[in-house]
Amino acid sequence: MNIPKIHSISKKILVGALGAFLSFFLLFHASANLLILRHDDGEWYNAFCHFMGTYSIIKVFEIGLLAALLLHAILAIWLAVINKMARPVSYKKPTRSKTHTGSKLQVWTGILIFACLILHFTDFYFVKSGWVKGKYMTKAEKVVALNATQPDAANYAEQHGKYSAKGNWLTNFDKEDKAFLEAAGLEVEPDFYHQAREKFKILHIVISYLVFFTVVWFHLRHGFAAVFQTFGLYNYKYSRAIEILGQIYTWGVCLMFTIVVIGVYFGL
Ligand code: HEM
Repeated sequence: MNIPKIHSISKKILVGALGAFLSFFLLFHASANLLILRHDDGEWYNAFCHFMGTYSIIKVFEIGLLAALLLHAILAIWLAVINKMARPVSYKKPTRSKTHTGSKLQVWTGILIFACLILHFTDFYFVKSGWVKGKYMTKAEKVVALNATQPDAANYAEQHGKYSAKGNWLTNFDKEDKAFLEAAGLEVEPDFYHQAREKFKILHIVISYLVFFTVVWFHLRHGFAAVFQTFGLYNYKYSRAIEILGQIYTWGVCLMFTIVVIGVYFGL
């Protein structure tokens, strides 16, 4: 089999470009998650998730995002292996360069993020496909409409579900309810608001997410400046500004994630 050869510089540029794209996603993800702190029975957060899961253009983005994540990881590890093979014996005098230590750490924090993401997906993303147990919801108006043709199924939905604050959704269904309601022709989707509010009440889950965010902090702290370096923009003129922007971005994203988890735990 012919494996296409990619020059190391191209790999590095690709890793940087994908990293920049993932950073935008992370800022978007962290900001949107703040909606979990609203006490509105999930009206806003679930409406946002519903929007994200409805339109094909966003579904294409979702596939692109997961592909970017995978490619970013594969290329970064590949580069690290090539670098290691080029210099199998370490330098006699250990380097004290901050960049060198940072990029060595980058591979390990990247691998840890991957492991954390698998756990994160079992908490949320895989609920969508029904691979793990979770909470589900359906549009209330669809249940009302079902009353005319399948009163038993509509009755079941009303008895097992709970109306959201504004009555737009019937929520709180489990996996078995989901199967029953789908068989009756209802569209059922994950109720990520109640899912998050339930998960972040459990101490060991809160702790594991805080560890996750700490690893993300380390990864972003180095990654932010590294992207500018890869594209040749990190020079004496801009380095200070890039450092400050990097600090604001890294702390901003990680604090937004943290506020949600801690906030829910303490009943905010
Ligand atoms: C408070 C912390 C977090 C919460 C409550 C949260 C919540 C969620 C939820 C509900 C989904 C599923 C969304 C959907 O499919 O419609 C999701 C997906 C995802 N999350 Fe998070 N997340 C958190 C932190 C993170 C962090 C720190 C990362 C990465 C470092 C991350 C990366 C992802 C990715 C890659 C996906 C799948 C992409 C997608 O939905 O298209 N999340 N998260």
